[in-house]
Amino acid sequence: MCSIIGYAGRSAAAPVLVSGLRRMEYRGYDSVGVATWGEDGAILLKKGAGRVEEVNRRLGLDGLAGHAGMGHTRWATHGVVSDTNAHPHTSSAGGVAIVHNGVIENHLEMRRSLEDSGYVFASETDSEVIANLLQRYYDQTGDVRSSLLGTVSNIRGHYAFIAMFGDGTMACARHGKPLMAGLADDGLFLASDVRGFIEYTDDAVYLENGTCCMVRDGVLEVMDFEGNAVRRPATKVSREFGDLDKGDHDHYTIKEINEQPGVIRRAGASSVAQIRRVADMVRIAGHAYATGSGTSYNAALMGRRVLARFAGVRLDAVIASEMPGDTMLERGGVLLAISQSGESADVLEAVRTARRAGCTIAGVVNSANSSLARDSDVVIRMDCGPEVGVAATKSFCAQYSIMLRLAEALAGDTGVDLEGVASAVSRVVQDSDRIREVAAQIRDITDVYVLGRGLHYPAAVEAALKIKELTYIHAEGLAGGEMKHGPLALIEKGTPVIVLNPYDSTYGDMLLGAREARARGAKIIGISDRESDAYDHWIRIPPGDEVSYSFSEVVAAQLLAYHAAVARDADPDYPRNLAKSVTVK
Ligand code: G6P
Repeated sequence: MCSIIGYAGRSAAAPVLVSGLRRMEYRGYDSVGVATWGEDGAILLKKGAGRVEEVNRRLGLDGLAGHAGMGHTRWATHGVVSDTNAHPHTSSAGGVAIVHNGVIENHLEMRRSLEDSGYVFASETDSEVIANLLQRYYDQTGDVRSSLLGTVSNIRGHYAFIAMFGDGTMACARHGKPLMAGLADDGLFLASDVRGFIEYTDDAVYLENGTCCMVRDGVLEVMDFEGNAVRRPATKVSREFGDLDKGDHDHYTIKEINEQPGVIRRAGASSVAQIRRVADMVRIAGHAYATGSGTSYNAALMGRRVLARFAGVRLDAVIASEMPGDTMLERGGVLLAISQSGESADVLEAVRTARRAGCTIAGVVNSANSSLARDSDVVIRMDCGPEVGVAATKSFCAQYSIMLRLAEALAGDTGVDLEGVASAVSRVVQDSDRIREVAAQIRDITDVYVLGRGLHYPAAVEAALKIKELTYIHAEGLAGGEMKHGPLALIEKGTPVIVLNPYDSTYGDMLLGAREARARGAKIIGISDRESDAYDHWIRIPPGDEVSYSFSEVVAAQLLAYHAAVARDADPDYPRNLAKSVTVK
């Protein structure tokens, strides 16, 4: 996914845009660009492949003149990562510049028709059709409003775009991708995320799907796709989103890992009534579905286990992109849609499918203003504060804690002590230096297997995902008992195997599995509260119960992955090829 930003006001636009892009870089970071409206009415543009900081240093994006402009960070969908494919794109005549987030589904058809009319394309992107289409309408009518309305009536897909015309008018449209306006004292912003402008204002106007805007002479005009005026109230957004400082930490990822004890204590605290309401809904339905992508799906897997264990409730966990058709879902069901960002396209699509099946939607989200929050019947807030590191860490602990609170609301007392869990996790975090020593040992490996049984199996899957994302080491999370049914064939002398082996009901069988792998040459890293001669390396976690162990081992694996990433010179905050939330299917 990408981030887009526009600004028109009294300040020099380019530095304002670059600082907004820095804050939104988590949304995509393979290339970046800025275009401004220069004094003489010309559109000035600089863009290139690379991260914001680096491209800015190389090209001086923030040195562009002008008091209005737009910027973009890209996560490639159509066309390779290159300077040419970076946004902004201009129309072939240069009279219109655009930045775009999303996918234009009928871009090939539109491109052919525009090329037939003499418009020339420079990039491989789907986005460039927007610039040329706006230009075609502008050439015909000389009017920004009809160019905008004509364009949105022609393009299909999910998009948010901002356009700048040669007369200095800024325009934008939203259809399925986030877009909001920020109302600052000295100017107006348009952005994918409040982080784009939170430094300057916390007065925001959230635009609905199917709306577009024009910004001219400091005035924001909002209309629907037919051109009818739309009134949207301004909302105060939380200043908390401005608190994106790394403090003394080298990376956001380690800061966020360290925050987890507090996250576990706070998770869902602002949604006590909503958790109770969802519990009632699930009780009436008799069972529920849970969905998510990546780490959020792994939290759904944890939820499946704990709802069965503590509340005797069946929760079917479904990967969002694998949600079966609506006819396969039980009518009147409840879907727990779990997403940190609330913007993952796969999750939003799964929600639409479940809606068609007559399901009620309970969103578990961090961002209260996200698309998922708005598409849900009940919203449970994760309350974990902004997560900047692209690989999810604290959001997992928040989601898992909420699953436990839901189990408690369903079952009464589950005996789970989240305060005790938080204390155990804080001890793991304090052991970071010792985990760094183990990470140094796996610095140069190419593959690793992570084994766990019971509740520790989904924990193993999440641990492996962190290792993949942060270190680029091939990692697989496996059910401990399955090793002997195939994966054992992959074990050679020195193959690292991480065993999640706390001293609970899974301990004996897991230790046996570790020994079987070791007998075939594996190097065993044991994550456990008990030392054993079966381990070549031991990562100690505090004693506890099955639930607290599962948190502790995931956090230990996050630290292992983080330190190994640093040792391998990988950037833990911005792993290659990934984006914090993927708003395309
Ligand atoms: C992306 C991120 C993952 C994240 C997933 C789901 O793929 O790289 O780290 O787990 O999206 O994100 P969500 O915001 O829906 O929880």
